[in-house]
Amino acid sequence: MDRLAAVVLAAGLGTRMKSEKAKCLHCAAGMPLIWYPVKAAFDAGAEKVVIVVGHQREAVQAEVSRLFPERAIEFVVQERQLGTAHATVCAADSVAGYDLAVFINGDLPLLTGRTVSGVVDAFRKSGAFALLTAHVRNPGGFGRIVRDDRGVSEIVEARDADPCQLAIDEVNVGVYVAAPGPLFEKLAQIRAASGSGEYYFTDVVKSFRADGRDVGSFVLADSTDARQVNDRLELAVAEGLLHARKVRELMLAGVTVHQPDSQMIDFDCSIGCDTEVFPGCELRSATRIGSRCVVGRGCVLSATSVGDGVEIKPYSVLFDSVVEDGCVLGPFCHLRPASRAMQGSHVGNFVELKKTTLGPGSKANHLAYLGDCLIGSGANIGAGTITCNYDGYKKMPTEIGDGAFIGSDSQLVAPVKVGAGAYVAAGTTVTADVPAGALAISRVEQKHVEGYAARKKARSGR
Ligand code: UD1
Ligand code: CA
Repeated sequence: MDRLAAVVLAAGLGTRMKSEKAKCLHCAAGMPLIWYPVKAAFDAGAEKVVIVVGHQREAVQAEVSRLFPERAIEFVVQERQLGTAHATVCAADSVAGYDLAVFINGDLPLLTGRTVSGVVDAFRKSGAFALLTAHVRNPGGFGRIVRDDRGVSEIVEARDADPCQLAIDEVNVGVYVAAPGPLFEKLAQIRAASGSGEYYFTDVVKSFRADGRDVGSFVLADSTDARQVNDRLELAVAEGLLHARKVRELMLAGVTVHQPDSQMIDFDCSIGCDTEVFPGCELRSATRIGSRCVVGRGCVLSATSVGDGVEIKPYSVLFDSVVEDGCVLGPFCHLRPASRAMQGSHVGNFVELKKTTLGPGSKANHLAYLGDCLIGSGANIGAGTITCNYDGYKKMPTEIGDGAFIGSDSQLVAPVKVGAGAYVAAGTTVTADVPAGALAISRVEQKHVEGYAARKKARSGR
């Protein structure tokens, strides 16, 4: 079995992105662009991936290390961006000991492990060098594939192509396989292109052919996988395709998705079987949703874990939170970071939780703000309940015991505790701890001013 290494080129700034951020750090479907080719290389069996970094190399290294903490990744630096051949040469020492290496442009987010394996197989048939091609409708800035009766004879960059070559619809995708030794010998001979002064990796094709070696190719059946990202328009197109791919995977795995084109479900999110997702949802940052859930229209979930059998009604927004089995949420609820709705609890419309645990079976069904609050099981939080958790300097906690009943329109001035089974009467401002089983009531006693309406009418003459 051949030992395979991979080299991913990611030193360029990506001038056409018009950004201060390096191109490979821009995200599509929740993952930085660099994640996709690196993942594809590992999926194809690469033992290690060497990443050529340059622009913002510290940021790129930090991000890749965060995304692939356990994998064999090495970084090499290309100080000046003198072209794809020059970038590849920077990785020569790192892949010298391998039988085979795959070289991948860093801006190919639709690339999969299966495709990379296809190029490796094409190399095994050709012997010297193999590359990935695709037939595309608008070849634009892609290098054009020139063929003769022995296969690929040349790659002509779009900027150097004559009208006849520009009309070729078969393009160079930017994935190549070769044995490192012979390839680096060829790369060392490449001269700078006369127009741009760059060293083109693609010139190796002509060079192998000049030696009488054949160049093999693997032609993509689905040309959408060839999408590169050079500017923000291509970024948006690639992201659309990635989201479509993700939603398709989910549907095939047993998730019902309504209006799949309207969903933004990022690559690192998961959804269990028989869950139903209504239109226009956004799932980000490794959100996990269990089985048999319903996610209503227009929900936004980020870094949130949802158990089984949960109903999230429309337009709910959940960040960095945990929702346990059997909960009912929304419509229009807001779980802010570090909130937990425990088993079977209910969070209703216009209820905001922040750093709050709602115990098993507890309910906060309408119009409440619960911040820095620990609520036991089976408690009932009335409409309009507000925890006054902030005194202008610091946040303070509120505790509500099991089975407590907080009447509507109450304020709980933290730090404060309401004991188990206690009642807080509607409209009460709780400023001292309420003992278990007691009733707290702070409202002014109700008076009746008899005949008031008639006297007011007489005074005003109306
Ligand atoms: C390249 C190919 C072109 C192909 C296209 C498809 C060359 C000369 N041309 O063109 O045939 O159709 O990709 O994807 O290779 N990079 C470096 N250092 C550099 C220059 C580039 O690391 O000095 C990296 C970039 O960060 C990027 C990748 O190499 O990830 C490709 O560079 P890019 O400028 O996008 O090449 P294209 O002009 O698209
Ligand atoms: Ca490109």
